[in-house]
Amino acid sequence: MPDNKRILVTSALPYANGPLHLGHLAGAYLTADFFVRYKRLTGADIVFICGSDEHGVPITIAAEKEGVSPQDIVDRFHSINKKAFEDFGISFDYYGRTSSDIHKETSQEIFTTLNDKGFFKKKTEEQLYDPKADMFLPDRYVKGTCPNCGFEEAYGDQCEKCGTSLSPTELIDPVSALTGEKPELKKTEHWYMPLGDAQPALEKWLDTRKNWKPNVMGQVKSWLNDGLSDRAATRDLSWGVPVPLDEAEGKVLYVWFDAPIGYISATKEWAIDQGKPEAWKDYWQDKETELYHFIGKDNIVFHCIMFPIVLMEHGDYVLPENVPANEFLNLEGKKLSTSRGWAVWLHEYLEDFEPDMLRYALGTTLPETKDSDFSWKDFQARVNNEMAAILGNFVFRALSFTGKFADGKVPELIDPSQTDLDALEAINRQKEKVANSFEAFRFKEAIAEAMNLARVGNKYFTETEPWKTRKDDPKACNNTLHVSAQICAALSVLMDPILPASMKKLREQLGLSDTLSWDDISTSILKTGTTLSSGEILFNKVEDDEIEAQISKLEERASANDPASNFPSLKDNIQFDDFMKLDLRAGEILEAEKVPKSDKLLKLKVDIGIETRTIVSGIAKHVDLEHLKGQKVCVVANLAPKKLMGIESAGMILMAEDSEGNLKFAETTAEPGSPIT
Ligand code: 2FM
Ligand code: ZN
Repeated sequence: MPDNKRILVTSALPYANGPLHLGHLAGAYLTADFFVRYKRLTGADIVFICGSDEHGVPITIAAEKEGVSPQDIVDRFHSINKKAFEDFGISFDYYGRTSSDIHKETSQEIFTTLNDKGFFKKKTEEQLYDPKADMFLPDRYVKGTCPNCGFEEAYGDQCEKCGTSLSPTELIDPVSALTGEKPELKKTEHWYMPLGDAQPALEKWLDTRKNWKPNVMGQVKSWLNDGLSDRAATRDLSWGVPVPLDEAEGKVLYVWFDAPIGYISATKEWAIDQGKPEAWKDYWQDKETELYHFIGKDNIVFHCIMFPIVLMEHGDYVLPENVPANEFLNLEGKKLSTSRGWAVWLHEYLEDFEPDMLRYALGTTLPETKDSDFSWKDFQARVNNEMAAILGNFVFRALSFTGKFADGKVPELIDPSQTDLDALEAINRQKEKVANSFEAFRFKEAIAEAMNLARVGNKYFTETEPWKTRKDDPKACNNTLHVSAQICAALSVLMDPILPASMKKLREQLGLSDTLSWDDISTSILKTGTTLSSGEILFNKVEDDEIEAQISKLEERASANDPASNFPSLKDNIQFDDFMKLDLRAGEILEAEKVPKSDKLLKLKVDIGIETRTIVSGIAKHVDLEHLKGQKVCVVANLAPKKLMGIESAGMILMAEDSEGNLKFAETTAEPGSPIT
């Protein structure tokens, strides 16, 4: 039955302060797109909304780092991110931005309505202030030690190590992220959302929410158990939506107050684009509409507590039916980190591979209920062993066999065997299983069940042996080809939400239209006699060297971002007695000359207090010969003498190799002869 429910789906608005990576895709976008594409196939009246979150401290800090304006930053990353989503087939109906005029009006209207209703508590409090930068330091403008776990780089709004939500004044030893100065406390007035007062109404509503994922409800319950406290809806900043009150000159709305309203303003802009400017109301103000927010777990408190309270207090809006938040995706066993370069950027991925490969590989590794890990080896295995070896292989076998031995046309099904009927029946069975999994937001399961139909197809093709029946039982052979073609056709719709580009290609090969719906999935999608085009491989295998190149790229970038990793790792421990065998002495170079026929070696005369030594040292490329006389050095004085280029060298000068491979003297201020211990 077609599903005519009206549905609004939102995906978290990513900050337009940098490009998107794998973790973003796996968190809030891929699952939303799977769901929306599935629902569209069922005939649902659905709108899918996203856009750029262009306010807040992450944007202004990125701008300050680059020495450009916040507008420059958001303009750049809005376009880059919009394109990356398009390239990956994330099928938003509208991709807005929170710097738009409609967004400003909408968020100011909501603030004003709440203010008129007396929702906000106005409070004057002392906040951290940077006298050098002449500004207050909200959120990420302060760094300091986390009072919860002791992490020294915690931000004023959150500790990224232990995940605790913080306010700037809770940080131990705070410093300004702008100037490094120790902040002062200064009084300022703000509009607070009394979330605690709204807690009973929120809890009542939450009790009516069924089928929420345990990871989401668990986090919500834990916030509620701790008791909700007041949260400021305004900030002393210049970048953001101005607070629409004369008395609030120089203040803007808190980014987490305006960002979720971005879903509403983007829907308004979508409606205008449709030529039906009032249509947004059907999705936001008709209580029959089902609203779904797809987000990552760090956004749960805002979407399940703060935004619902705002909408409830306003009164005109629907509240979410469900918030199917994902947990986090790790990369090669480590936490994703953009600052440490431990990430796979979407635009870079696209230089090397097809989008559908990542949609599938990530789809099978989603952090649906707990954190999960993406590895390039697993990506290769998913593509080669599942997409290519199961789905691609089955389609190729079925279509190329039909091309060669049935004139490329779907043969008639005559007197099917039980094996034929069982294989056909798998279409209906898997259709139902996949639908149930999509409806329950169990996307990994949906993908596995869809792939199971291709497994059935492969097994059936092998067991019915059309290459044999072709000669001795042509009717059985034709039945195999008919059934296989129907399975291919069913797969082209069943797998469409996951692999939209490849399934479109498959439908073209099968002569099917792009307007097929979920209801059209049946045992007789293809009419007998339909011409199939054969032979085009759907998925190419990924080679080992391609994977090794990705892993090296990742490791190289991580080490470029981490100078410590440019040094060799530490050697094994030695015993104290071993160290005491070394006789290290302070020395002074008296003379230095080049060793003939060598561009590396220098012959040095070194005063080590007790005597003068001749030492041959391979440092010619790293030092200035003219300035060596008088250089204080550390010498290994008891190294057994050795002949180098015919000169006996008695000892070794200690040098330090820096992160770029340059040798520098390990100097000492001690007088020649002093033992170094
Ligand atoms: O965490 C983030 O990246 C936020 N920019 C998400 C905002 S979601 C919504 F509220 F807009
Ligand atoms: Zn912490």
